[in-house]
Amino acid sequence: MQREEFIDLASPERVRAVAEKTVRAQRLLREAARDYAPAVFANSLGAEDMVLTDLIWRHGDIDIGIFSLDTGRLPAETYELIGRAEQHYGRRLSIFYPDRASVEQFVGQHGVNAFYDSVAARKSCCHVRKVEPLQRALAGKKAWITGLRAAQSPTRDGLRTVGYDPINDLVKINPLSDWSEQDVWIYLHANKVPYNALHDRHYPSIGCAPCTRAVNPGEDLRAGRWWWESPATKECGLHVINGTLQRKVGAGETAA
Ligand code: ADX
Ligand code: SF4
Repeated sequence: MQREEFIDLASPERVRAVAEKTVRAQRLLREAARDYAPAVFANSLGAEDMVLTDLIWRHGDIDIGIFSLDTGRLPAETYELIGRAEQHYGRRLSIFYPDRASVEQFVGQHGVNAFYDSVAARKSCCHVRKVEPLQRALAGKKAWITGLRAAQSPTRDGLRTVGYDPINDLVKINPLSDWSEQDVWIYLHANKVPYNALHDRHYPSIGCAPCTRAVNPGEDLRAGRWWWESPATKECGLHVINGTLQRKVGAGETAA
């Protein structure tokens, strides 16, 4: 289903359910700010993360910092959205960049587009550009909040709303864990939240520009991420879900 269909076909029951989920998500964010200060939200600027941005920034009374990881390879549309969102809310995102020396070393050794050469090179690139900056962004924090949803992929099935992240040694909160893609679009539409222009061009999931493409009708939500790889490798190492570092996406597989 496309974004417009999600909204046009929304039943009154669905709209009511989203209103209830919104109240629950907002309550959870307030509790996180109170019980796990300092808590931060990792914002990829994807559709789910714009719901959370709106919940945190709209009323201005939830004390949760928002940061994004700028890998240096994000699509132009994502940079454009950062500017639009900052203007919309009158706030500024904290942006974390990769370590310059590590990028220079990686690119010097493997080339600028090494991610297409091998899964190992792709994962190293993700490590340098995402995972290490994430660790810096989370240093000294008690909890981090993400826009992960259980329905995004089989690896995320069974995702808990609140859990412990053993890699980063802090609490991880996923307030939209039980939201559907339709719920996300009902919320964004109803609240006139800015979103990435690529979503209108068949990009349901958006990461770095060279590693993301549009999906065809009927394709999986994440089919456009690292599309040249087998489904078994398609995670970037940011997330440990239910105690497991997520690497595999095949139905019935256990992530390694
Ligand atoms: S990924 O692991 O495949 O890249 P995905 O794009 O689905 O993840 O995003 C899942 C969650 O990871 C987001 O809701 C967000 O909390 C976090 N995340 C992913 N990319 C970034 C980013 N560039 N900056 C900040 N947080 C991010
Ligand atoms: Fe590098 Fe692609 Fe990972 Fe971005 S998604 S960090 S460009 S391998």
